[in-house]
Amino acid sequence: MKCLPQDCLRGFGLLCFAQTVLSMVVPNSTHLEAILEKYMDKEDESWVFKQRGKRAITEGDMHLILDLHNKLRGQVYPQASNMEYMVWDMELERSAEHWAHTCLWEHGPQHMLTQIGQNLGAHWGRDRPPTFHVQAWYDEVRDYSYPYPQECNPHCPFRCSGSVCTHYTQMVWATSSRIGCAINVCYNMNVWGMIWTKAVYLVCNYSPPGNWWGHAPYKHGRPCSACPPSYGGGCRDNLCYKENGVERRPAPELEETNYIEPEPEPRSRTQPPTPYPNDNVDRNEVVSTLQMCQQMDCETKLRDRCKGTTCNRYECPPGCLTSPGKVIGTGYYDMQSSVCGAGLHAGIIDNDGGWVDVTRQGRKPNFSKSYKNGIQSLGWVLLSANAFKVFSVPVKAVTCETTVAQFCPYKRPARHCPRLYCPRNCLHETRARVIGTEYYLDKSSICRAAIHAGVIQNHSGGYLDVQPVDSRRLYSGSYQNAISSESLQNPSGGKAFRVFAVI
Ligand SMILES: *[C@@H]1O[C@H](CO)[C@@H](O)[C@H](O)[C@H]1NC(C)=O
Ligand SMILES: *[C@@H]1O[C@H](CO)[C@@H](O)[C@H](O)[C@H]1NC(C)=O
Ligand SMILES: *[C@@H]1O[C@H](CO)[C@@H](O)[C@H](O)[C@H]1NC(C)=O
Repeated sequence: MKCLPQDCLRGFGLLCFAQTVLSMVVPNSTHLEAILEKYMDKEDESWVFKQRGKRAITEGDMHLILDLHNKLRGQVYPQASNMEYMVWDMELERSAEHWAHTCLWEHGPQHMLTQIGQNLGAHWGRDRPPTFHVQAWYDEVRDYSYPYPQECNPHCPFRCSGSVCTHYTQMVWATSSRIGCAINVCYNMNVWGMIWTKAVYLVCNYSPPGNWWGHAPYKHGRPCSACPPSYGGGCRDNLCYKENGVERRPAPELEETNYIEPEPEPRSRTQPPTPYPNDNVDRNEVVSTLQMCQQMDCETKLRDRCKGTTCNRYECPPGCLTSPGKVIGTGYYDMQSSVCGAGLHAGIIDNDGGWVDVTRQGRKPNFSKSYKNGIQSLGWVLLSANAFKVFSVPVKAVTCETTVAQFCPYKRPARHCPRLYCPRNCLHETRARVIGTEYYLDKSSICRAAIHAGVIQNHSGGYLDVQPVDSRRLYSGSYQNAISSESLQNPSGGKAFRVFAVI
């Protein structure tokens, strides 16, 4: 499944729908009859779809599609605490039918795309059940590691190719509780420039729409522990479920459990942020992108940026000497100071820009003013405020065997690890262990864990950031990117770490 650049560009706002990418099935032989019969009126010479009294999809296919969605939604890993049971919606079916009849291999209609999510599939040749496409959408999960999109279009819109996950994330979007699909047979359908003489076209519309940019598809936690109150505590096969459609007494609101960290803003955004068009959508808190290094403007204040645990490394653009923003303090700085201005004042970076690590210092009683490195800082006396310090970011080359335990062991308060450079060809160092997935035990090889996580590639090696974190009770092994990682439960001693791509 490939990503069309124009789709990615369109999706590169704050809101990214499933319609960013289309799912396609490779054609084969020509046993269409069975499928055709279900949807076509053979009496009509032109095989025009029977509009009157006929559904856009058979009852049987409807159940297949719906049941598969609910089965897969109930089985997501890690488990979802707020996944809602999906029901069929005739309005969505009708809108899907309308679109399937255009035989256009693109998302639409345009005026509905802010209100619905949409997944598309098409094939020709061998008869396939519609669930074939649904399963194919779901199988994108192999490139997805909750809550991070991992390999799914990491560089859109700059380099838009490779696998995508938006069909998967729309399918398992917790709050998308209604679905309606239609199937149509299209003649001479233009699929990315290829003309398919007879294509079976599946359109599924979802509501409320999912794929909000920067949000996880669902909250992680014990199944049904974070259902919306309207479900009245009903639960079925791990899904929030309304017994007999009856709404019961609202359950108490539950605390959010899936806060990760704020989304760093991409520097070269092509359009200003637009407000969410549908603000009552229950967004599942915030998810970071792949990188720890948050790109900043010269004047961005730490206070406005630092909300999560991993926000400790920032990239300042060149040219900040002319507009360094407000800097308050010397040695340590008020949180209202600009990070890049403080970095210049402290001599951590110069006018060429660069990386700055930040450590918070808690409250300080007074901040002294001084003129250093071309920056005049302000002072407060007897006005206590939260403070931070800035540090330079060293870069260290490591070997395929280097572990976090050796290199940058976990300490409290949290400290910064240097940025690392991994050599090529760590895939071959099979003796260097990797334990875990997404969170790795600190005895794991850093570089091999980074390949496993999809942060670097074996053939090129490259830069990455590591973040040591508290140990985990369970490390689950998985096979990813040609590396099998080990599982481990309740390890004695040892801390964990995560790896982040450096773009
Ligand atoms: C096409 O499908 C047939 C079975 O229907 C299979 O034997 C054959 O290998 C397939 N060809 C390709 C190119 O996938
Ligand atoms: C900073 O504040 C403390 C009170 O907490 C005060 O004793 C000290 O003199 C102040 N220092 C300066 C340089 O103003
Ligand atoms: C890993 O990268 C090295 C160096 O580029 C290359 O020679 C080797 O074939 C790669 N291994 C695999 C399994 O791709």
